[in-house]
Amino acid sequence: MKTYDVSNSDVLLDRAKSVIPGGIFGHYGYSVRDGSPSFFSRSQGAHFWDIDDNEYVDLMCAYGPMILGYNNPVVDEAARKQYAAGNTVSLSAPAMVELAEMLVDMVSDMDWALFGKNGGDSTALAVMIARAATGRNKIVKVHEGYHGVSPWMQDGRPGTIETDIEHVTTVPWNDADAFESLISESPGEIACFISSPYDHPVFRDNELPAEGYWQKMEQLCRQHGIVLIVDDVRSGFRINLAGSHVEYGFTPDLICFGKAIGNGYPLSALMGSDALKETAQEVFFTGTQFFNAAPMAAATATLKELKRVDAAKQMTDFGNRLNTKLVQTATEQGFDLVASGIPAMPYYRLSNVSMKGHFAWIDQCVRRGVYVLGHHNHFVSTEHTDADIERICEVAADAFAALGSVEQYQRKTG
Ligand SMILES: Cc1ncc(COP(=O)(O)O)c(C=O)c1O
Repeated sequence: MKTYDVSNSDVLLDRAKSVIPGGIFGHYGYSVRDGSPSFFSRSQGAHFWDIDDNEYVDLMCAYGPMILGYNNPVVDEAARKQYAAGNTVSLSAPAMVELAEMLVDMVSDMDWALFGKNGGDSTALAVMIARAATGRNKIVKVHEGYHGVSPWMQDGRPGTIETDIEHVTTVPWNDADAFESLISESPGEIACFISSPYDHPVFRDNELPAEGYWQKMEQLCRQHGIVLIVDDVRSGFRINLAGSHVEYGFTPDLICFGKAIGNGYPLSALMGSDALKETAQEVFFTGTQFFNAAPMAAATATLKELKRVDAAKQMTDFGNRLNTKLVQTATEQGFDLVASGIPAMPYYRLSNVSMKGHFAWIDQCVRRGVYVLGHHNHFVSTEHTDADIERICEVAADAFAALGSVEQYQRKTG
């Protein structure tokens, strides 16, 4: 199998580096690797093409938004219609009310919605509402749980100061006892517990909730007046359209959505229960672009489409078929591939080679036209097909073959 030439991407990346710090910044910066494309020229369905005109089966879906595939005609038409009528206008659009009604109707236990642009808007607002409602400072989150880039979420990265995380404490995933101990150490001080519905860290296998975990967490939150926030920014609409909490059998107070909600149009939402509605009205959280109407129209169309095609089930079935075939492909070549997390967001790890070896295999897949990442969970969309599974496995097998047997592979990659 021929490997791709990405020289146009490399040239443009050099140009970018002279005018943009790092060339490509933020989380997209992590995917800049030798032999990997940096810039796209076009996209369609579950595929994109780089600026050297190489085609990729995309298993990242832009880190999650593209749940119905690139250029979905129904969503794009809804956005186009709203753009034609007006996008950023001095008044709110009816599209905002229609979207809120759709969300309240669709997501269980939630009575209202507020809107922002990125997932980090909804998590920041959720925490502010929890603090305002309880009059408490402390935020409890899971170790390495990612909730966006506000300083309190950054775990001491450059540009943040100690006091930013002074009131943030972490507990291990799936450890309700640790949370209970924390509550007894600081009675009446914890405003909220914020967590994704299952653990999807980077560089580690992803982990589902243990039996009874969420029920115990909910009981502790209720007992101690702690606001329970589910950060469904990444996994929202991929587990259960009524909310991931429905699948795991518990009731949160606030749910954060982002990423897939508008199929790529910039929008996020915070949803909450009636008990927090008044506080939500008092907290001041806004932005110039928060009222863009086209992304709201696109989001309503996205949610309707997700419902119409039974997207969560479709992606779960696809993810299961993909994982089974890919693990089998690896086994046939002497490699052990672990697929963790939910099937619609699989995290892959080769368990009988080093992390460096795993990354070498990932790079070989990318060079042959399957866009995967070594450190992050993947995302499937409703547009991925069984032909894509065939292609992915064909590329994966060739990528293994290019590196030789496990022994040779380890000698080469260390
Ligand atoms: C679980 C989770 N919460 C919040 C965020 C922040 O979302 P955004 O990057 O849209 O601000 C992300 C982004 O990856 C996320 O995965």
